Amino acid sequence: MFIMAATGSAVGLGNIWKFPYITGENGGGAFVLVYLVCILLLGIPVMVAEVMLGRRGRQSPISTMRQLTSEAGLHGFWNSIGWLGVIAGLFILSFYSVIAGWALAYIPEMGKGTFQGVDPIESQLFFDTLLADKARLIGWQSLFMLMTVGVVTCGVVRGLGAAVRILMPLLFVLLLAMLVFAYREGDFAAAIKFLFWPDFSALTGRSILEALGHSFFTLSLGMGSIMAYGAYMPVGTSIGKTVLTIALLDVVVALMAGMAIFPIVFAHPGINPAAGPELLFVSLPVVFGAMPGGLAVGMLFFILVTIAAWSSAISLIEPAVAWLIEKRGFNRFTANIVLGFIAWTLGIGTVLSFNDWAGFTLGDFTFFGAMDFLTSRIMLPLTGLFVAIFVGWVMPRATPQSELDGEDSLMFSLWLWVLRYICPPAIGVVLLVGLYDTFTAAG
Ligand code: TRP
Repeated sequence: MFIMAATGSAVGLGNIWKFPYITGENGGGAFVLVYLVCILLLGIPVMVAEVMLGRRGRQSPISTMRQLTSEAGLHGFWNSIGWLGVIAGLFILSFYSVIAGWALAYIPEMGKGTFQGVDPIESQLFFDTLLADKARLIGWQSLFMLMTVGVVTCGVVRGLGAAVRILMPLLFVLLLAMLVFAYREGDFAAAIKFLFWPDFSALTGRSILEALGHSFFTLSLGMGSIMAYGAYMPVGTSIGKTVLTIALLDVVVALMAGMAIFPIVFAHPGINPAAGPELLFVSLPVVFGAMPGGLAVGMLFFILVTIAAWSSAISLIEPAVAWLIEKRGFNRFTANIVLGFIAWTLGIGTVLSFNDWAGFTLGDFTFFGAMDFLTSRIMLPLTGLFVAIFVGWVMPRATPQSELDGEDSLMFSLWLWVLRYICPPAIGVVLLVGLYDTFTAAG
């Protein structure tokens, strides 16, 4: 249950949509390398810590943190970190549902054959038309939000977990098939070179920060998703091995998405690898339009992307729902409606940032850009920093020691050392530069 739920949460738009596009924007190989290092040195240790806290507390993340911080004798101020998680979840969900809406919109288009035989220019034109159509975007965004709120309201999170168990392997197989197609029809060599040949001259300080932020985003860290699911983990299962499995699956899906997309990008000079959020939606339809059986494969692909996004979206709202129920006396239905409505309203800002408000920027950011930046670069790292310091320095050492009892003792010492000495300064730097950027961008 825990592995399925956590993998369902981790694998989502972050892997299939965001990873390829930020890799394209940040120049490829060197960025991928830094991202992998961040997963290994920061993401995995923080994930182990979050799962451990969740399993220890066995409540909603906010209550767990409240209990554990007061046990450790900390000031009540530290509870506010739970709030930050709730807000981060709503912010992420707000733009997440808009992007997932794009995937939804593509399902019927694929089926209708809109993309049969299109070239990149036509594909781009289709996408631009969709983006300009606010009503359509809001319609799909609303549908996705209803799907999310619906599942959480019915409490069938486990039901979806079971579905994910079948569909994730299917997504995997499909990505593999697309990879084979990209290998035969696209410029595979150029793509592999772009993704795996580190060209450090393309790497800027900002790219490093982006890689770190994304390593938290893609593993669902820094807002309680993983902590909430940790509460379901049976005592006696190895947290270390489970976390490694989830992280590995997550990385593999992201790299496969990259290897399916970039060969196509490089085979068509009309597609810019640094195109940004539209990369997936412009490049892949060209593939589906050209491949035999592309109509069905394309439909299936966007259905699977939607489902991957769905199981992630649930984990974005569930901690906040649990908290409203536990502490504010809401029932499940009202809690969901209230939170879903807030995220939906914020999401309108993201919809508009691709059309009416495209020219309206806060410094360097559109509304969507600001939401993305605030969450990945500030809120998630802030919570992650707190978790690292709390588990590494504040909590009595006996707690992690007993929770991680079955683990290899060398790995345990290594983990604790990284959590104490590597994570806080590294995450701290990201945070400081992130704050600096916010103020300079706003000013
Ligand atoms: N990890 C998911 C993805 O890559 C998104 C996600 C779900 C998330 N829950 C989260 C991101 C919690 C940050 C925090 O698509």
